Amino acid sequence: MFSGEEVNHFDCDDTIGGDEMYKGKRVTLRAVEQDDIPEMLHHFNDWEVRRFLHMITPVSAEEEEKWIQEITRQRKAGTHFLFTIELLKLKRFLGVCGLNSVDWIHRSAELGIALSNKKYWGKGLGTEAIHLLVQFGFNVLNLHRIYLTVFEDNFRAQRVYEKIGFTKTGRQRETIRRLGRYFDLFSMDLLANEYKKS
Ligand SMILES: CC(C)(COP(=O)(O)OP(=O)(O)OC[C@H]1O[C@@H](n2cnc3c(N)ncnc32)[C@H](O)[C@@H]1OP(=O)(O)O)[C@@H](O)C(=O)NCCC(=O)NCCS
Repeated sequence: MFSGEEVNHFDCDDTIGGDEMYKGKRVTLRAVEQDDIPEMLHHFNDWEVRRFLHMITPVSAEEEEKWIQEITRQRKAGTHFLFTIELLKLKRFLGVCGLNSVDWIHRSAELGIALSNKKYWGKGLGTEAIHLLVQFGFNVLNLHRIYLTVFEDNFRAQRVYEKIGFTKTGRQRETIRRLGRYFDLFSMDLLANEYKKS
């Protein structure tokens, strides 16, 4: 570039930051829109969906709207990147996923996902969405480590994280009080040099 050569954009890798990197075989990650709120409310006000999330009470449209505004502010500050997960062909809302608490010094972030449209559970779509999100984290944000916590009885999510390459690194005992008893939380993480796209 400094020698006066023009950059040939066709030589660039579209899987690092271009539109292609947000598309899998069946799902895509896109920006969260206000229009997603009715679907979000429908899903998050279902206990079966909310039970594995850190959401205690049902939520209102106003709260969801404020949450989206807050996350937009955090995206601009570079600390939280949230996406809507959409079914590629039918453009159907499936849920949301994101990387929050981005730490630019230690190059780490926390992963969160709610494939909240439960009709689509168990079809491999959550795994696909997390692959896209992890690739975004490592290739675009240039993170070194992505971590998360998962409830001890959320076996489906644990399986998905293990398939992707996350390692269980600890157990936070009796951290969650739900349904009249305490549950442990597992900590899991994945380092950039451990991640291999399947
Ligand atoms: C967790 C979640 C992201 C998984 O997405 P998904 O599309 O349903 O999962 P996938 O179909 O990609 O994979 C599910 C895997 O778990 C396995 N599984 C399902 N139920 C299981 C159980 N009870 N015990 C062990 N494994 C189980 C499936 O067999 C599959 O593994 P396989 O591919 O080896 O067969 C999604 O279900 C979800 O968002 N749930 C609600 C919110 C939530 O739990 N979020 C995570 C918080 S940490």
